[in-house]
Amino acid sequence: MSGIVTLISGRGSNMQALIEAGLPVAAVISNRPDARGLDTARAHGIAADVVDHKAFPNREAFDAALLERVLSYRPSLVVLAGFMRVLTSGFVQALSGRLMNIHPSLLPAFPGLDTHQRALDAGVKLHGCTVHFVTEDLDHGPVVAQAAVPVLDEDTAGTLAARVLEQEHRLLPAAVRWFLEDRLEVQGLRVTLRGGALLASALRVPEVP
Ligand code: GRF
Repeated sequence: MSGIVTLISGRGSNMQALIEAGLPVAAVISNRPDARGLDTARAHGIAADVVDHKAFPNREAFDAALLERVLSYRPSLVVLAGFMRVLTSGFVQALSGRLMNIHPSLLPAFPGLDTHQRALDAGVKLHGCTVHFVTEDLDHGPVVAQAAVPVLDEDTAGTLAARVLEQEHRLLPAAVRWFLEDRLEVQGLRVTLRGGALLASALRVPEVP
């Protein structure tokens, strides 16, 4: 397996889940110098880089510098794990087919930000997370895997986020492993898993407490 580059902006717990799953994380790059995840990466002996978006005059210039840094690690896969910047189409196209994102909702419901509060406000009974390939259509690329969690009457955005995050930490390493094992087949928006029961492995529904 060749390496993964993970892009983060903050806490980096999904990145940590990849490292702890024994996946080959070659480098972690943050757009924020104070991202907590950088320390976690360093503590694991992994290259921790910063490309500070504030140092660039516009999105295009930032993305060009970021792409150059990413490609310097020659990754087979780039994983957006809590990376809070919208990427330009040039960046997305350059990494087409090898750029994955974890999003904290059951897409296509609740693309964008504040997903947990929006799920509560919408009154849904199921919420969750999605790992998908990134396309130019924000939060709408081919879905690799999803995990669902119940929404409980007493939930706040915080308790719901914690329940979803626990599943993110299971789902993302599984999806990344499938990619590195070359088991994912993408046709349009549909992703199938070679040599595995997709339903059993790509959909995770924990027991309702
Ligand atoms: C996660 O919920 C992820 O799905 C979202 O931002 C959060 C990042 O958490 N995109 P972390 O930095 O991985 O701890």
